[in-house]
Amino acid sequence: MGTVNTRPHVVLGVTGGIAAYKACELLRLLQKGGAEVQVIMTRNACEFVNPLTFETLSGYPAVTDTFDRPERWSVEHVAMAKWADLFVIAPATANILAKMAAGIADDMLSTTVLATAAPVLVAPAMNTGMYINPATQANMNVLRNRGIHFADPASGYLACGDTGVGKLAPVEDIAARCFELLGRKQDLNGLRVLVTAGPTREMLDPVRYISNRSSGKMGYALAAAAKARGAEVTLLTGPVSLTVPEGVHAVSFLSTEDLLNAMLDNAALNDIIIQAAAPADYRPVNVETQKIKKQHGEPFVLTMVENPDVAATVGAVKRDNQTFVGFAAETEKVLEHAAKKLEKKNLDLIVANDVTAPGAGFDVDTNIVTLIARNRQQSLPLASKREVADAILDEILRIRA
Ligand code: CTP
Repeated sequence: MGTVNTRPHVVLGVTGGIAAYKACELLRLLQKGGAEVQVIMTRNACEFVNPLTFETLSGYPAVTDTFDRPERWSVEHVAMAKWADLFVIAPATANILAKMAAGIADDMLSTTVLATAAPVLVAPAMNTGMYINPATQANMNVLRNRGIHFADPASGYLACGDTGVGKLAPVEDIAARCFELLGRKQDLNGLRVLVTAGPTREMLDPVRYISNRSSGKMGYALAAAAKARGAEVTLLTGPVSLTVPEGVHAVSFLSTEDLLNAMLDNAALNDIIIQAAAPADYRPVNVETQKIKKQHGEPFVLTMVENPDVAATVGAVKRDNQTFVGFAAETEKVLEHAAKKLEKKNLDLIVANDVTAPGAGFDVDTNIVTLIARNRQQSLPLASKREVADAILDEILRIRA
């Protein structure tokens, strides 16, 4: 990926749709925001807008397939792929989405986007039927899972006369997304970050276990955010139904004791350790080797023993240059309980949340937290878990500064 300099480089891919003319406006907005823009047009896009328009606006030759010799692709596509700090395709037809999903490179645009390491944003625009077709939806899912960013289309009156979803997202919104992606700081470059996520399972017998409501979403968001900001990320993950973010090294754990062992194997190697997992505090004294039978009317008594406190164990051996972060999910006296845990576990930062508040806690995509460091406290408004993750990383860097 090219470095983000004072004039970020954007490659704007334009495909053939009636919304192609709106790409001229997008180009102008990107330039207004300080970006340098080069345009690649597909053959069909040239039917909608004259390449001369983009050439005049961008100050660069618009790269097209109409008059270029194919042998030029191999040289030129690599140069443009490397030049880009960001790749944006607007409008993106069903066809380019399908080609990207399949890795097809048969023209300048598809070849260059396949070669780039820059973040890619696509803004689909097409007829509703094409958009909602399972083939298009499946292609978009593939791309999303690969980390391609989407400026989702709006609903409205379409050029084909239909009313429905498929209208290019407002160009102002697409431009805003571009600057958001360009602004992504690489401020964790060179740092190793260890994140734990998800619940533990404490087995009772071969078919039963005790667990908790942790979904792992906060920990996964932290791992993804740290990776995006340039860190080398290891994720210790409990049993959750989430996809490991791209480029993150994942190690699975099941019980609290497994988690402790994985922590002890990895903690010393990392600069930042974030304990977002929800370890069970107790485990059954005995794990039965056979399935426990019904007690025939008698009460079933389960004797449990306290698990090791993973955070306290890691906190006790923490080095000065390591930053250690924990979470406190509370249902009452949130800040008071959290501050005590900060001390007791030798943390540098504790992220406190009231799991009973609407929009916070388990299995939702948002959270409301207070960040409690040794010498300062900061309450954040309701935000997506990804935004909360970035705020936590900002605070960690402040502590380390
Ligand atoms: N934690 C841990 N090992 C445990 C229990 C908790 O590492 N056995 C960690 C959690 O991952 C979290 C922090 O300690 O980062 C606080 O967890 P929490 O469950 O809120 O606190 P507890 O120490 O379990 O205290 P209590 O049950 O009294 O609330």
